[in-house]
Amino acid sequence: MNIQTKRLVLREFQPEDFEDVHAYSCDYETVKHMVYGPNTPEQTQEYLNVKCVEECNAVPRMHYNMAIMLRESGKVIGGVSLHMNWRRDDAIIGAILNTHFTGSGYMTEALTGAFEYAFCKLQLHRVHAVCDVNNKAIQHVMEKVGMRNEGTMVQRGKSRPEESTPYFDQFGYGILQEEWKQHEDIIIAPEA
Ligand SMILES: CC(C)(COP(=O)(O)OP(=O)(O)OC[C@H]1O[C@@H](n2cnc3c(N)ncnc32)[C@H](O)[C@@H]1OP(=O)(O)O)[C@@H](O)C(=O)NCCC(=O)NCCS
Repeated sequence: MNIQTKRLVLREFQPEDFEDVHAYSCDYETVKHMVYGPNTPEQTQEYLNVKCVEECNAVPRMHYNMAIMLRESGKVIGGVSLHMNWRRDDAIIGAILNTHFTGSGYMTEALTGAFEYAFCKLQLHRVHAVCDVNNKAIQHVMEKVGMRNEGTMVQRGKSRPEESTPYFDQFGYGILQEEWKQHEDIIIAPEA
């Protein structure tokens, strides 16, 4: 895949991305809302050298892990993932950005590119996401790209061991292909 937006390229991760990917995946504050990390260097290497390669070669493909790369410099600043359920023609989406690059609209742009791929290339019917009810930044981004808050899942999230409460509430967000197609005018240049 090679999805181009105004400032970004979404592409497969490569082993050469190690330094850029480890810079955010080893940082507790960045990964605290994710199901992995903070990573050791070995875990990041395993992710890039083994997991991403296996997932890329799987038939049918069940995971699309996309590096978010700045067009201008080639730096990888984060990732967007689609985890497929082909029986339902849907996917769950995940997202992460290096904190040095937050607040500039990059994730809004990256999700826009990922939705273009999900709905126009993969022809999915629906994309959904879950997030901590206290993670206001990602909620704002998801609403900006047209996703709908579909309600609260009480204590669906399991906290990290160091946190004071064992479980936390999550919001579900979703968007249908037909809804995206009414919203897609943000996209700059979809995949050739
Ligand atoms: C959440 C995250 C992806 C946002 O990336 P980003 O590139 O900063 O997002 P954008 O710049 O496109 O948009 C952020 C928006 O949220 C807003 N925002 C940021 N913090 C906010 C907060 N605490 N409350 C409400 N809105 C907030 C910003 O103002 C901006 O909105 P605007 O463009 O209308 O001003 C990034 O911070 C991140 O990777 N966080 C850690 C991982 C994570 O939480 N992933 C999601 C797991 S479900």
